[in-house]
Formats: sequence, C-alpha cells, structure tokens
Amino acid sequence: MAPSVFISILVVAWALRIFMHATNMVIAMDFEAKALQESEWWSSYSNDTSIHPEWRGIKCNNGGSVTEINMSGFNLGDNNLITSVITKALGNSKNLSELDLSNDTFVGPIPSALGLLTNLSNLDFSYNEINGSIVSERGMLKKLLVLKLEHNKLDGPIPSSLGHLTSLTKLCLNSKQMSSSIPLEIGNMKDLKPFSLKYNKLIGPIPSPLGHLTNLTELDLDSNQMNKIPFHQK
Ligand SMILES: *[C@@H]1O[C@H](CO)[C@@H](O)[C@H](O)[C@H]1NC(C)=O
Ligand SMILES: *[C@@H]1O[C@H](CO)[C@@H](O)[C@H](O)[C@H]1NC(C)=O
Ligand SMILES: *[C@@H]1O[C@H](CO)[C@@H](O)[C@H](O)[C@H]1NC(C)=O
Ligand SMILES: *[C@@H]1O[C@H](CO)[C@@H](O)[C@H](O)[C@H]1NC(C)=O
Ligand SMILES: *[C@@H]1O[C@H](CO)[C@@H](O)[C@H](O)[C@H]1NC(C)=O
Ligand SMILES: *[C@@H]1O[C@H](CO)[C@@H](O)[C@H](O)[C@H]1NC(C)=O
Ligand SMILES: *[C@@H]1O[C@H](CO)[C@@H](O)[C@H](O)[C@H]1NC(C)=O
Repeated sequence: MAPSVFISILVVAWALRIFMHATNMVIAMDFEAKALQESEWWSSYSNDTSIHPEWRGIKCNNGGSVTEINMSGFNLGDNNLITSVITKALGNSKNLSELDLSNDTFVGPIPSALGLLTNLSNLDFSYNEINGSIVSERGMLKKLLVLKLEHNKLDGPIPSSLGHLTSLTKLCLNSKQMSSSIPLEIGNMKDLKPFSLKYNKLIGPIPSPLGHLTNLTELDLDSNQMNKIPFHQK
C-alpha cells in the first residue's frame, strides 16, 4: 500500500509541475499576444494566447515569448502609422531583439514606445516614409547593434544622444533632409563598421573623434555639403 501511495503522490506532483509550467508559459505569453492583437496587424489571429508559430512575421523563443517581429515588405497598403505597431503595450516585450519594419509604407514619427524595447539588437525601419526628427534618449537601447533608418523622410539634426548607443556596429542614416553637423559623440561608437549618411544636408567638418573608430570600414558622406577634410587616420 505505502509504495503505491508514494507513487501516486509522485505522479500527482509531476502532473502539477507540468501544469504549473504550462500555466506559467501562458502567463508569460499572454500580455505579448494581447499587445500584438491590439495592434491591428495581428488582430485577426486567435484570441487563444498560446502564441503563434503561424502568426505572420512573429517569432518566439521556446517559452513562447516574442523575440522577433519582421514585417519587411508586407505590402500593407498606404499610410500606415508606425505607432500602430510600436505601441506602449508592445513595449513590455522585453525578449524582443529583432524588429524589422523595413520596406512597408509606414508613416509618422519614430514611436516613443521604441525606447521601452530594451532588448533590441537589430532595428530596421528603412524604406518607409517615417518623418520628423530622430529622438534618442539617454541610455535607451543599449544593446542595439544595427540601426537602419535610411530612405525615410527624417529631418532635423543627428542628435548627440545617439552617441549613447555604444554597441552599434552598423548605422545607416541615408535620408534627404537631415541637417546640421555630425555630432562628436558618434566617436563613442567604438565598434562601428559601416556608417552611412549619404544624400543628407549635413555641413561642417568630419569630427576628429571618428578618427579613433578603428573598426570603421565605411564612411559614406556622398551628396552632403560637408568640407571633407580627412581626419588623421591611424
Ligand atoms: C478576439 O476577441 C475580440 C474581443 O473579445 C473579438 O472582437 C475578436 O473577433 C476575437 N478574435 C478572434 C480571432 O476570435
Ligand atoms: C523571456 O523569455 C523567457 C523564456 O521564454 C521567459 O521565461 C521570460 O519570462 C521572458 N521575459 C520577459 C520579460 O518577458
Ligand atoms: C526580414 O525578412 C526578410 C525577408 O522577408 C529578410 O530579408 C530580412 O533579413 C529579415 N530581417 C531580419 C532582421 O532578420
Ligand atoms: C520591398 O518589398 C517588395 C515586396 O513587397 C519587394 O518586391 C522589393 O524588392 C522590396 N524592396 C526592398 C528595397 O527591399
Ligand atoms: C535579450 O535577448 C537575448 C538574445 O539576444 C536573450 O538571450 C535574453 O534572454 C534577452 N533578455 C531579456 C531580459 O529578455
Ligand atoms: C509626418 O507626416 C504626417 C502624415 O503624412 C503629417 O501629418 C505630419 O505632420 C508629419 N510630421 C512632421 C513632423 O513632418
Ligand atoms: C572591433 O572589431 C573586433 C573584431 O570584430 C572586435 O573584437 C572589437 O571589439 C571591435 N572594437 C574595437 C574598439 O576594436
């Protein structure tokens, strides 16, 4: 008798463990699924919050938490606000590391909720019609390796706070309207390889801190109005 009671207890404990694990998983994913469903692009997917190998453009980790959103070339139709994808609720997706919204027809400003996505390493908003200026707050997106904003309608200066993105290896800001000069703080991006700024309206000299970027493989300043006095190269 005693051994079988013991075995029953073990079985129950084991079943409970699996149940709790499953429940935890659903809790972990629940708010992320809701955030996606609220953002209209995924509203047609099931309300069953167990995400979603089949959700278009979404990838999850083994625990079902969103790690990647890739809507590149989705053919969404005209004038979609980028703020309708990057919502405050989506900002809770702390496992999200890849966000590719390139080559769609997104309009509007760079969403402020972007700063909540603190685990982002790869951000691609290129080939849209995103407008306004680049806002970058201190300490945001520390893990960002790749930032692609080219072929949009961004204007205004390159903010010096962009220099806080010290992990960047690739930075593409080709646009038509960005003005002012290259901030000195870009020199903080020690790992930067390609850095492209062509087709803008930048003026002034190339700041000398860029000369210390030993990994820089490409600095494309075509079609700007800068005086391209080459900095001392090591
Ligand atoms: C999800 O729930 C909302 C409101 O509860 C409903 O309007 C929508 O049709 C549901 N979606 C699906 C795919 O069942
Ligand atoms: C990140 O993913 C892991 C594995 O699925 C999960 O346990 C964890 O809760 C997620 N973290 C957040 C902040 O969502
Ligand atoms: C997104 O998907 C496209 C193809 O649909 C691919 O070319 C691109 O590399 C993907 N982006 C990322 C960040 O993986
Ligand atoms: C953009 O996406 C379309 C499909 O929607 C594709 O044909 C085109 O090559 C893509 N362009 C770029 C620049 O990625
Ligand atoms: C952030 O992303 C990495 C993969 O780049 C992942 O291993 C890690 O668990 C994520 N961190 C958090 C806090 O979710
Ligand atoms: C950005 O574009 C939208 C729609 O095209 C427009 O309403 C808005 O005023 C523009 N904002 C800026 C800062 O240019
Ligand atoms: C430059 O690149 C190398 C190899 O990719 C890497 O190990 C190093 O940390 C990078 N940064 C600097 C400042 O050299």
